[in-house]
Amino acid sequence: MHGAPASADDVAAGLRSVGYLPGESTALVAFLAARLGKPVLVEGPAGVGKTELAKALAAYLERPLVRLQCYEGLDEAKALYEWNYRKQLLRIQAEAAGTGWDAVQDDIFGEEFLLARPLMNAIASEEPVVLLIDEIDKTDQEFEAMLLELLSDFQISIPELGRIEARTHPVVLLTSNNSRELTEALKRRCLYLWLDYPSTEHELQIVRLHAPELPDAVAQRLVQVIALVRELDLKKPPSIAESIDWARALLLLGADDVTPELFRSTMSIIVKHRTDLDIVAERVGVKLGMAA
Ligand SMILES: Nc1ncnc2c1ncn2[C@@H]1O[C@H](COP(=O)(O)OP(=O)(O)O)[C@@H](O)[C@H]1O
Ligand SMILES: [Mg+2]
Repeated sequence: MHGAPASADDVAAGLRSVGYLPGESTALVAFLAARLGKPVLVEGPAGVGKTELAKALAAYLERPLVRLQCYEGLDEAKALYEWNYRKQLLRIQAEAAGTGWDAVQDDIFGEEFLLARPLMNAIASEEPVVLLIDEIDKTDQEFEAMLLELLSDFQISIPELGRIEARTHPVVLLTSNNSRELTEALKRRCLYLWLDYPSTEHELQIVRLHAPELPDAVAQRLVQVIALVRELDLKKPPSIAESIDWARALLLLGADDVTPELFRSTMSIIVKHRTDLDIVAERVGVKLGMAA
């Protein structure tokens, strides 16, 4: 078991050791979260390393990762706990006739009949975990409100059973792609980290890490081109995920330069909307042609 990190530099080194290259504020916020015990809300466009940060933190802190993937319509029963109706029913049927209802009721609302979902698992765990509540912006405000109790008190109230308090304190990361504004109440309880597209230097390091055999000249060219593409007004600018995919493709194709032809034939790896493709072909294709 890993002790609490002593400094932000500690966290930065730890994240690097498990293959995540944090920016400065990332390491600092992660350090504060681990030490202050506050949840972190990580916001930013898709594909900039929000989910990966939680996985890397868990790996570095040597804690299990408990992940709750959010979606529209996610409710308490899927996130927190629900009663195992089928098992309760079987129990009632197996009960000898004549047993009083009170006795049966006491029995079927015990822990044995509870199905623990990720949030409950996270706080009931014997060993401290990293809890990732991924893409919280996909749920509705009621769900957010339910989370507040959990995030501020680290406890869950079950009417039939009573209060379940956290045995251990999880490190909590919530991520959001910013598809809707989150409530002030939620933000107030969290530290905030905005993850954006990285600088070319930072992205170069990430690309090198994920595609180490790619010739350096190609990697450099790749991050420059990606930066150019991000400057255009696109529906969906390429993220780090696309940079990595493109790097791996170029490696596979044995590229030793990003020529206009190669760019044209592989650009659908980084741009995935019809209209964006047209814009990129015109604007970036021309620039590459001139540079060649
Ligand atoms: N700082 C980083 N260091 C190493 N890899 C990164 C970094 N940021 C992003 N990645 C890589 O980029 C990809 C997309 O990251 P992901 O966490 O899925 O994005 P998000 O959750 O923000 O949509 C992953 O393959 C991840 O490994
Ligand atoms: Mg994600």
